[in-house]
Amino acid sequence: MTNMPVWHTHKTHRAHRERLNGHRACLLWFTGLSGSGKSTIAGLVEEKLHTMGKRTYLLDGDNVRHGLNQDLGFSDQDRVENIRRIGEMSWLFVDAGMITLAAFISPFRVDRDAVRERMEAGDFVEVFIDTPLATCEQRDPKGLYRRAREGEIKDFTGIDSPYEPPEAPELHIVNDGIAPEEAAAQVIRHLQANGYLGQ
Ligand code: ADX
Repeated sequence: MTNMPVWHTHKTHRAHRERLNGHRACLLWFTGLSGSGKSTIAGLVEEKLHTMGKRTYLLDGDNVRHGLNQDLGFSDQDRVENIRRIGEMSWLFVDAGMITLAAFISPFRVDRDAVRERMEAGDFVEVFIDTPLATCEQRDPKGLYRRAREGEIKDFTGIDSPYEPPEAPELHIVNDGIAPEEAAAQVIRHLQANGYLGQ
């Protein structure tokens, strides 16, 4: 016997909230190396959806680590817990009826797949922002690659911590030599073509 509380089913469901919103909820999961452009692209997608009158919320790695996950670092174990919590939070946001955008390195395939499993079929849209390490390192927007190369930061993804690319993402965006606006447009087209955006 466990002490698990019994699930309470409330009268107002996700379907009611989606009806009010005029579109279905889903989770857009952006994965890729640090500096690959995940947050920038996710931000542009959110902006576009917002101007289209869709209800959205963006969860961003750097920001969530300031609050809910400020107790976590970058060991394998902490990254697993980071993604588990984000997965649970994303589930709640989707249940709240939002088009939820999550931008996290999420380097381990098994953890991303666990989030996929947690969601209803069709709710999880994995967007692989595929930017070569050399390009990320050259951009180095926060100067972190330089510090990792100098040994000042340990367990840095792509340097001394692994990144496992998705095998069958819903969207694979090669973000090398294209504008972030073009990458964002690819995401919007995918959502439109697959009926996520309603009328
Ligand atoms: S994840 O691996 O657990 O999914 P998350 O997306 O939350 O990572 O956070 C990544 C961000 O933290 C990076 O964009 C970078 O700004 C910062 N960061 C600091 N230290 C590291 C590190 N060792 N490896 C990767 N990112 C780091």
